[in-house]
Amino acid sequence: MLPSMPAKPAIAIVGLGRLGTALALQLARAGYCISEIVSRTPESQRQARALTRTLKARSSHHQNVILDAGLVWLCVPDRRIAVVAADLAELNIWKGKTVFHSSGALDSDALASLRTRGAKVASVHPMMTFVRGAVPTMKGITFALEGDAAAVRLARRIVRDLGARTFIIPKQNKAAYHAWGAFTSPLLVAALVTAEQVARAAGLKTAEARRMMLPIVCQTFVNYAALGPAGAFSGPLVRGDSEIVSKHLRALKKIPDARAVYVALARSALRHLPVENRRQLERALKA
Ligand SMILES: NC(=O)c1ccc[n+]([C@@H]2O[C@H](COP(=O)([O-])OP(=O)(O)OC[C@H]3O[C@@H](n4cnc5c(N)ncnc54)[C@H](OP(=O)(O)O)[C@@H]3O)[C@@H](O)[C@H]2O)c1
Repeated sequence: MLPSMPAKPAIAIVGLGRLGTALALQLARAGYCISEIVSRTPESQRQARALTRTLKARSSHHQNVILDAGLVWLCVPDRRIAVVAADLAELNIWKGKTVFHSSGALDSDALASLRTRGAKVASVHPMMTFVRGAVPTMKGITFALEGDAAAVRLARRIVRDLGARTFIIPKQNKAAYHAWGAFTSPLLVAALVTAEQVARAAGLKTAEARRMMLPIVCQTFVNYAALGPAGAFSGPLVRGDSEIVSKHLRALKKIPDARAVYVALARSALRHLPVENRRQLERALKA
C-alpha cells in the first residue's frame, strides 16, 4: 500500500459498462466508497444516474472529471485504455494515486502515461463474465494481477475484500491467458449459438432447441466439475462410431460454419480425450 493510502481508499470508476457497473456495486457492498463515476456519452451518463444515486457517487463527464479518489479504476474497452490514460495524464493529480485497468490481454504498460506522471499502476483482471442485467458474485472468482508492486499490493487487499482470489500473471503470458478466458465463456456461447443453427437444420425452432439443450448443457458442466473432462466425455467419438461421425458431417454440409467448428473440436477431442477407433475417426474427419 502507498504510505498515504488508507486501507479502503475511495474509488473512481471510469466507464460504466458491463464490468464497471458490476464492479461499482460489488465494491460498494464490500465497504468501499465509490466517490465518482465517469461516463463519456449523455446516454451512458443517463444510464449511470440511478447507480450514482444509489452509491451516493459523483457523476462526471469524461472531459470534466474531479478524480480526487485514491484509486482510479479504468473500465473502458481495451482499445480505449491507453488513449483514456493519456488524456487523464494531462491532469496534474497523479502522485500518490493508484490506477487499475481490467483488460485480460493488455498489461500495465497500457497505463505508462500515468505511471510517468507518478501513479502506481496495475492490470487487475477478473476471470468472470459480466453482461448487462447480471451482477455475478465475486466470491471465489480469481483476479490475475500484474504491475507496480504497491499497486499489486492494493489490488490484493481489494480482491480479498471482495471474497475473491488473486494470482500473479507474467506480462508475457497475458495474451495466452486471455485467449484461455475466451474459451471459458464467449466461445462457449458461440458454440451454443452454433448448436442452435444445427438444431434448426433438424427442424426445431430456436426457443424450443434452447429449452431442450439446457438440461444436457448443465449436466455436462456438473459432470466436468465432478469427473473431469475424460469422465464427462460421451458420444460417438468416445464410442469410436466413425460411421456416425461421417453421417454428421454429411448433414452439416449445408451449414459450413457449424461443420468447421465440429471438425475443429472433434480433432481437439481426438488429441486430448479418450476415444476408440482413433484411426477410423481421423479418416472420417478428413473426408
Ligand atoms: N465484460 C466482461 O465480461 C469483462 C470481464 C473481465 C474484464 N473485462 C474488461 O473490462 C473492461 C471493460 O469491458 P466491458 O465489457 O465492461 O466494456 P463495455 O461494456 O463496452 O463498457 C465500456 C464502457 O466504457 C465507457 N467509455 C469509453 N470511453 C470512455 C471514456 N473516455 N470515459 C468514460 N467512459 C468511457 C463506455 O461508454 P460509452 O458507451 O458511452 O462509450 C462504456 O460504458 C475491458 O478492459 C475488458 O477487457 C470485461
